[in-house]
Amino acid sequence: MRSLKEYKIIAEKRLQEIIPEIAHGVFEKDQIPYLLSESMRYSVLAGGKRLRPAMLMAACEMLGGNIDDALDFACALEMIHTYSLIHDDLPGMDDDDLRRGRPTNHVVFGVGQAILAGDGLLNMAFEVMIEKALSLTNAHDRALLAMGEIAKGAGVTGMIAGQCADLYSEGRSDTGEDMLTYIHRGKTMAMFVGAMRAGARLAGADDIALKAVTDYAVAFGLLFQASDDVLDVTADQTLFGKSKGKDARDGKLTAVSMYTLEGAKKKVEDYLNQAKASLECFGDSAAFFITLADQVAHRDH
Ligand code: IPE
Ligand code: IPE
Ligand code: MG
Ligand code: MG
Ligand code: MG
Repeated sequence: MRSLKEYKIIAEKRLQEIIPEIAHGVFEKDQIPYLLSESMRYSVLAGGKRLRPAMLMAACEMLGGNIDDALDFACALEMIHTYSLIHDDLPGMDDDDLRRGRPTNHVVFGVGQAILAGDGLLNMAFEVMIEKALSLTNAHDRALLAMGEIAKGAGVTGMIAGQCADLYSEGRSDTGEDMLTYIHRGKTMAMFVGAMRAGARLAGADDIALKAVTDYAVAFGLLFQASDDVLDVTADQTLFGKSKGKDARDGKLTAVSMYTLEGAKKKVEDYLNQAKASLECFGDSAAFFITLADQVAHRDH
């Protein structure tokens, strides 16, 4: 069984290859403009926990699949996640100036280039997945199903829906627990569900396994966003790598604003128990995911 660190190294090595470095000043036919490559690489290769690609690869391996088949899908998912972070930080969204311990993309490259870096990562993610899918000549159906899971998680009933509701709810007093759950399921959980189900699809998982990994990803996603909301209040900003106290300043609807800090911490523990219980059917082979849920529930960044 591999560790999160091992998956992180594997994903980062491949991401370095996927987005080529272009010599300064070069705008050449059929090549990524240097400025775009620089801004995409700036955000993708800035660190990050790499949870989503690790979970995609680990789900695939846990269910008997091959990591070589899963790697490019995992990287594509991380590219989509990074695009969502770049756009989330824009002045028209959360207007943040710190991300992954660095100035945000738009602070360095300007708003226009940051929008394009996000667009570029999103589009390129699909190019990467299509190319990989075409090369898996005996598994086109599995690759298509995996792409579908990723697209759905990132899409207009998933992450983008959650971001829409998150912005809509800012500063409003007429939203409640149902809206909070809708936001967390959309903006955060859906990408984890996409990761786990894509990994399972690539392994050719049956319905029972798919349901178990989905149940885990649902509880994990909800615990992850509740703990993100807690950390926005309690974290050490240097370790956290993003600005602190911003949710309350922006009037965000969060687990903390809904349940208080102690109540939000309690939610994290409840979801943690649910996440662990959902993989009991896999016994020791789910050890990666049990450890991961514990780590993420008790993280400092
Ligand atoms: C941040 O995700 C966005 C949320 C869903 C809260 P991560 O905390 O996984 O960010 P990185 O990838 O480690 O930077
Ligand atoms: C955003 O949630 C989740 C995304 C889809 C990017 P947040 O706005 O809470 O994420 P952070 O705290 O800025 O990472
Ligand atoms: Mg946001
Ligand atoms: Mg934000
Ligand atoms: Mg947050």
